[in-house]
Amino acid sequence: MTLIENNKNRKLFFLNTVSSSLVIMVHEDNYVFLPYFGSKIEASDIDYIIDGITEANYMADTDNKKKFQLELIPQIYPSYGYTDLKEPAFHFVHKDGSRITDLRYKSHNIYKTKKKLNGLPTVLSNDDSEVLELTLFDELKKVEVIITLAVFEKHNAFTKSVKVINKNPSDDLYIEKIMSANIDIQESNFELIHLAGAWARECHIKRRRLEQGMQSIGSIRGASGHGQNPFAALISPNTDENNGEVFAMNFVYSGNFIISAEADMHLNTRFQMGINDFDFGWTLMPNEEFQTPEAVLIYTNKGLGDMSRTFHKLYQDCLMSNKYAYKERPILINSWESNYFDFNKESLLKLAEEGKNIGAELFVLDDGWFGKRNDDKTSLGDWTPNEQKLGGSLSSLIDDVNKKGISFGLWVEPEMVSPDSDLFRKHPEWAIQVKGRKIETSRHQYVLDLSNPEVCDYIINFMTELLSKNNITYIKWDMNRNITNLGSSYLKPERQKEQAHRYMLGLYRVLDNIVNAFPNVLFESCAGGGGRCDAGMLYYMPQVWTSDDTDAIERLVIQYGASLVYPSISLACHISDIPNHQTRRKERIETRANVAMWGNLGLELNLNKISEEDKKVITQKLEIYKSIRSTVQFGSIYRLKGLNAQNEYAWMHKSIDEETIVVNYVQICVIPNLVTKRLRLEALDSKSKYKVNDSEKLYTGSELMNIGLMLGEILEDAFAIQWIIKKVN
Ligand code: GLA
Repeated sequence: MTLIENNKNRKLFFLNTVSSSLVIMVHEDNYVFLPYFGSKIEASDIDYIIDGITEANYMADTDNKKKFQLELIPQIYPSYGYTDLKEPAFHFVHKDGSRITDLRYKSHNIYKTKKKLNGLPTVLSNDDSEVLELTLFDELKKVEVIITLAVFEKHNAFTKSVKVINKNPSDDLYIEKIMSANIDIQESNFELIHLAGAWARECHIKRRRLEQGMQSIGSIRGASGHGQNPFAALISPNTDENNGEVFAMNFVYSGNFIISAEADMHLNTRFQMGINDFDFGWTLMPNEEFQTPEAVLIYTNKGLGDMSRTFHKLYQDCLMSNKYAYKERPILINSWESNYFDFNKESLLKLAEEGKNIGAELFVLDDGWFGKRNDDKTSLGDWTPNEQKLGGSLSSLIDDVNKKGISFGLWVEPEMVSPDSDLFRKHPEWAIQVKGRKIETSRHQYVLDLSNPEVCDYIINFMTELLSKNNITYIKWDMNRNITNLGSSYLKPERQKEQAHRYMLGLYRVLDNIVNAFPNVLFESCAGGGGRCDAGMLYYMPQVWTSDDTDAIERLVIQYGASLVYPSISLACHISDIPNHQTRRKERIETRANVAMWGNLGLELNLNKISEEDKKVITQKLEIYKSIRSTVQFGSIYRLKGLNAQNEYAWMHKSIDEETIVVNYVQICVIPNLVTKRLRLEALDSKSKYKVNDSEKLYTGSELMNIGLMLGEILEDAFAIQWIIKKVN
């Protein structure tokens, strides 16, 4: 980080990565501005950016004296009430009822090695982080705001979060809105790209022109949600995988969020991310503080592909705290789509054995193993194994599974309670509810009030017991409904608006405890598929069940979208049965397997019921996957086709050592009378020679990138082809 102080008494902080720069300026009036965010520039006195801003505003004074129209000036944390009439980054209500806060620079602190945020998931690096803490202060109301900006130089990324401290010795402070990040850009010729969808349709790419006014995406569901992912980017028009300017934000948080882009009347854009301010409120007593979650900011002028690879590397190196970040993930076989609730010891052991024979390494017992749970109407909260159904104790089942030569994983849904459960009968007040009103069920269940520490302790205790007593190497942590009837019998009436965020803080405390106590357990997060697919969860659980939709064609769209932000190793992708349980489609096994090789491959089908021929293909495919697993899981991804969701999808993974390239192509519908086409690769060494599958001929990187691979004749729908390419010199 470089600090320049010029003769006008202005400070310029240059936060530079290998290819981008974020520049903060402290003005002599102690306003804090953001003169520049973009491609890397060397540190120099660029305060002319601010001086050169003309006073086009109709509120401008006419006496020729330069006076700030704050609305025109790019800021790092704009406030409400002065000459900026755009959306502020925060909104405080003071004891006297006033809502104006005048934050001015008080001090700064620069240090190496970013610190963990208290109680929140954090992007961290021991050897690639430097931090600028800017302390701003409102003299009249004695409110301090600390903006923490971290730069990850080698990773081309920044993080930003905000802490508010009420330094007023006698008055409390009410926070109505507090964003984690605000970026003002002196341009509005952008498109907004983000990921939207629904259950079974997560992470579909949406892209639209930014128009004057406020555009936002968000969630008030109590989770980041299936509907909108906490990611958005402003991109220059026509941006594609390899070209175009991208200003991207991703939230390291799993609850209610909002991302807004406001294109203003002066053709500038304000881009914000934070906890959704709808139904949010937080009281700070004297000397109390509030810490926001953090946002990740990335700038590139090399298109969406570079943005994605930047997120992926950052998350694998600096977010996934679990030791599994760089550990190959096991191929699992999950009992859900195979058996649903209908199983006994014999059928489970048969599935585990078949799984082992076919090449799986981990057997996962999904829902239905506890309480009286033979359907989804009962027993969440009663986490006692159903020994009658399991034919004995859970640990004896695990022993028997292990004897088959395969490890054991288990499904849990700890944040929930069924109305028909001993837990609810004992603690009805633990369910989220508004007293006197009927609680709505969804999937026949209620949500536990994790704003109550006692509820969190109950989860920590039963999970600790479960994991200490049993040889469990994997946990699928599910969360199958969103929050309605928001209300807490634990929180005081004036604190009710804190509940949604306190729920997340409670959940993070629970996860911190369990994940740290059992570092050898691999955790997978799930919320009815990708209902909580976010960087907050990835911090604790290094993989996510991407979607309950296991149809290969649907998965192309979902995995393509998710890969915009989340690395391949974090995306669980299973081979499932036909007709597919969500769409009734019948893709052939090769296609289902190749698409599942996008990420972290698993199986989700009854192996006892499929044809011998399909079994043979799966066995071969799992062998292939094992040989390319490190390339897919640790390498970098290049999306070759599919951004505009048309008929073709193609992607390639390149290993860290750049020696192995795995290429996949899928064409969804047959095109009649088509002449053979080719697929051009990317990011190879043009002069090196490559062997494609078992070909005799060697191809130069330049041939593969400019001429491409021959696709051959395609005579069927959902056609898939895979190439494994090795660099030979
Ligand atoms: C959710 C998950 C599924 C499965 C079921 C079990 O829907 O997404 O994979 O675990 O719960 O009830």
